[in-house]
Amino acid sequence: MKGMTKLSVNINKIATLRNARGGNMPNVVKMALDCEKFGAEGITVHPRPDERHIKYADVLELKKVVTTEFNIEGYPDKRYMELVMKVKPHQATLVPDPPDAITSNAGWDTINNKALLIDIISELKSKGIRTSIFVEPKIEIIEAAHQIGTDRIELYTEPYATNYAKDKEQAVYDFVRAANRAKELGIGINAGHDLSLENLHYLKTCIPFLDEVSIGHALICDALYYGIQNTIQMYKRKLILN
Ligand code: PXP
Repeated sequence: MKGMTKLSVNINKIATLRNARGGNMPNVVKMALDCEKFGAEGITVHPRPDERHIKYADVLELKKVVTTEFNIEGYPDKRYMELVMKVKPHQATLVPDPPDAITSNAGWDTINNKALLIDIISELKSKGIRTSIFVEPKIEIIEAAHQIGTDRIELYTEPYATNYAKDKEQAVYDFVRAANRAKELGIGINAGHDLSLENLHYLKTCIPFLDEVSIGHALICDALYYGIQNTIQMYKRKLILN
């Protein structure tokens, strides 16, 4: 559907909860399938080297059953690349996190990492995997991302989310500029980090051509109150323009 923004649910938090007790509750694979059943258009995972949430073995299991878009985020070290080349998800989202980061906390410097990213992106594309790179909303970073040849960027929306309550027009300003430049260059646009029921609709209103949002933390927290089925529908409604 034209103008549709896909909701990809990041299920890392489900694995974090499971890992707290060492058993298989909640079941990550079942949760992914239920998210799809309840309307998620994609499943995102972000394996980290210490496997404190999604484990590499989970990714292999999920690959067998996920029927919507499967997106694997991560820093492109040797282990990530081996996993992604084996699993061949629909999309690989590259993040520049150091291994001990609690969560992604910056976008790529696409200017100084150009050579590295060109190599990795061409390797991924040679397997038919769509590439996305996590970036801050800066014009020069987007232009370098274009030169690198990525299919998409993912706008790192934490600053938008943080500033939203203070002044939403100001908070979204750089994101709209960056998204417009990416669109001019023919790059697809994803967004993620700290998106929530509160701030998602305004982002969609300002950047109606967003291809995908990837949401984990707030969505899983909301599901504690509303249930996962309702929550997914609530997020999807935020992506509909009136
Ligand atoms: N996008 C990227 C690259 C991320 O690292 C994360 C967090 O793992 C998200 C999106 C989702 O962020 P949140 O959990 O705040 O919704």
